Amino acid sequence: MSASEFLRNEHQDILRLEKVITKSYKALYNGVDIPFSDIDKINFLIAEFLDSVHFTREEGSYFPCVATYDHLNKEIRELLIEHEFSRNIARSISKNLKLWKEGQDKREPVARFLSVYSTFLIEHMKREEAFF
Ligand SMILES: [Fe+2]
Ligand SMILES: [Fe+2]
Repeated sequence: MSASEFLRNEHQDILRLEKVITKSYKALYNGVDIPFSDIDKINFLIAEFLDSVHFTREEGSYFPCVATYDHLNKEIRELLIEHEFSRNIARSISKNLKLWKEGQDKREPVARFLSVYSTFLIEHMKREEAFF
């Protein structure tokens, strides 16, 4: 399997996670309570699978390989910036979830950042797949 195919396959798993994220933020917006532990699992998958495994694979081996072609450098820079954006949203989800657990009403920001994350995932993977 080529590196591109491998990453595309991982995108299929990430899309399944995106569906869970969408379901969760819609429930929160509709006033439905979902257990904190479910949002913790989403956070765990974002940190441990997306960031530590998938992005690291792209940044560590795939992007450097294709970066030797000069015309792709701009696209890679943009994708790297998007990875940073993803890390910032993930931090915002964690921070607000922590405050919510401590008793502050953070339902709206948690729902909003999950929604932003879902949009990010769809757009980011679309761009990458056009590029792979
Ligand atoms: Fe990526
Ligand atoms: Fe990706």
